[in-house]
Amino acid sequence: MVAVLTIEGLAKSFAGVRALDGVDVEVHEGEILGLVGPNGSGKTTLFNCVTGFVRPTAGTVLWKGRNITQLAPDQIARLGVVRTFQQKMVFPRATVRENVEMAWRGKRGGDTGQQFKSCDDLLDFLGLAHLKDRLATDIPFGSARNLGLGLALAANPRLLLLDEPAGGLNQDEGQELADLISKIKELGITVWVIEHDMPFIMSLCERIIVLHVGKRIAEGRPAEVANDPNVISVFLGEKFAKDSAT
Ligand SMILES: Nc1ncnc2c1ncn2[C@@H]1O[C@H](COP(=O)(O)OP(=O)(O)OP(=O)(O)O)[C@@H](O)[C@H]1O
Ligand SMILES: [Mg+2]
Repeated sequence: MVAVLTIEGLAKSFAGVRALDGVDVEVHEGEILGLVGPNGSGKTTLFNCVTGFVRPTAGTVLWKGRNITQLAPDQIARLGVVRTFQQKMVFPRATVRENVEMAWRGKRGGDTGQQFKSCDDLLDFLGLAHLKDRLATDIPFGSARNLGLGLALAANPRLLLLDEPAGGLNQDEGQELADLISKIKELGITVWVIEHDMPFIMSLCERIIVLHVGKRIAEGRPAEVANDPNVISVFLGEKFAKDSAT
């Protein structure tokens, strides 16, 4: 088990609000790691700090042993740490294929270890080949979510951070997305995913980290976390622990 990303003592305050308060995390190579916690617990801020969109107040982020805490988002992305956003981010007046092409051209700077030979190869992988000439705003919601994943995959990530990818999806779409994320892992890409949908995260992830008011309060396998008394009291509720144990 090799730690590719190591976060030590990470803290971030916004005008007196402690969004992150001394968080330590190790992300292991090749795993799907979950990140859960109530609204406002600091999940997105943690991803923002890792990917350079927000400067932490204290603490360090190491990527494969290299300190990336002070790097800019594009520098971090070029090292292979790439995120998606909680809100959908596509070029609205462009087609699906044009969107992927722009991401492909913009971010791939002669990288090694590329997973996809061409944009069409990536569109196939995403199940979007039949929609490639449609406007990005004119495709079903679940397909738009896959497109968002595709824009991140075009950047050739080694670690992919997904911020609430299942938000707004119905159960079938959620299952398709979970299958796609598993396929991404099979490509050798490490995945770290924030999600409120607990059945989704419990079935997808090998390990889960729980944040509460900016602190890590639990970490472990899904069943361990779901039955952790701290987690139950602040977040999941007794009912969830009983349901997940059956
Ligand atoms: N740019 C910002 N300016 C001021 N406060 C912020 C900013 N970003 C986040 N916060 C605050 O930091 C705390 C953590 O927010 P964050 O968005 O990281 O939570 P979250 O766990 O992602 O929540 P959600 O589940 O609702 O997406 C909240 O109190 C939030 O209001
Ligand atoms: Mg968030």
